[in-house]
Amino acid sequence: EPRPGAGARPPRAELHLHLEGTLEPELAFALAERNGVALPFADVAALRAAYDFGDLQSFLDLYYANMAVLRTADDFAELTRAYLRRAAAAGVRHAEIMFDPQAHLLRGVPLATVVDGITSVLVTSERDFGVSTLLIAAFLRDRPAGEALSVLDALLATGAPIAGVGLDSAEVGSAAPFGPVFARAAAAGLRRTAHAGEEGPPANVVEVLDVLGAERVDHGVRAMEDPALVARLARDRVPLTVCPLSNVRLQAVPSLAEHPLPRMVEAGLHVSVHSDDPAYFGGYVDDVDDALTATFGMGARERAALAAASFTGSFLPADRVREHL
Ligand code: ADE
Ligand code: ZN
Repeated sequence: EPRPGAGARPPRAELHLHLEGTLEPELAFALAERNGVALPFADVAALRAAYDFGDLQSFLDLYYANMAVLRTADDFAELTRAYLRRAAAAGVRHAEIMFDPQAHLLRGVPLATVVDGITSVLVTSERDFGVSTLLIAAFLRDRPAGEALSVLDALLATGAPIAGVGLDSAEVGSAAPFGPVFARAAAAGLRRTAHAGEEGPPANVVEVLDVLGAERVDHGVRAMEDPALVARLARDRVPLTVCPLSNVRLQAVPSLAEHPLPRMVEAGLHVSVHSDDPAYFGGYVDDVDDALTATFGMGARERAALAAASFTGSFLPADRVREHL
């Protein structure tokens, strides 16, 4: 259904989106029933009530637990279709979708099941939903790098249609052990993004740039604590995919009004705004826009600038980017 103000929404790209984070409680219960999986919640309302997080880890615990309902290729296809339908309504015309292959492998779901289910929908996403898509395999920072390397090898060996790699999950330890994973991805022609500076310090942002060769940084909000890093990010036009509602829900920032987004824009950083895990954090990109407009009085010009940045920060080739500007 048309949403209020939808006509005024500029087309945009979603660059920071975890497919598993689009699992709405209603779909979680439907899949649980279909697959004979028990969720430790009485009903949809009880599950929704559990979406009250103190930090990143408390969210990740529920995020990984809920994945138990995703068993078959059809499940992954249904999840992907539901997301693209909702994204199209939000004004998304291009989506770079992350998924966590290790999270599924670790609970016994084969890589091919996950990849085939997702890609069966992505191949016709432009025709079916008006949304072009790229798929990004994200590796788990809180698991051994050797595990990531073998998953990357399996993806490459099977010719999985991934455009890039990412790094997500708990922002613990050094990202340096993932250097060889990202080097192999680069050698295979894959694009590279990495979460950093979400809960972790600015040094984590420097590390994913220098050690992983990340072309884009997911979150990066804590970069604002290091003026030299801000200057570098501005000079090099490094795209930062900022997720304001996520940062508030995970208490990385105390409130939306105190979010550094306006200061990041002011500092000349290449920022665009995204939804991260929309089912868990209170909204898709249209909801993010509405919240920013309500809190910061963002006008049409600022919304258009953020929308343009979502395309210029994408992994689309330059000619495809231009079509959207
Ligand atoms: N995986 C899913 N969402 C994430 C987030 N916000 N940070 C790190 N890992 C994630
Ligand atoms: Zn994320």
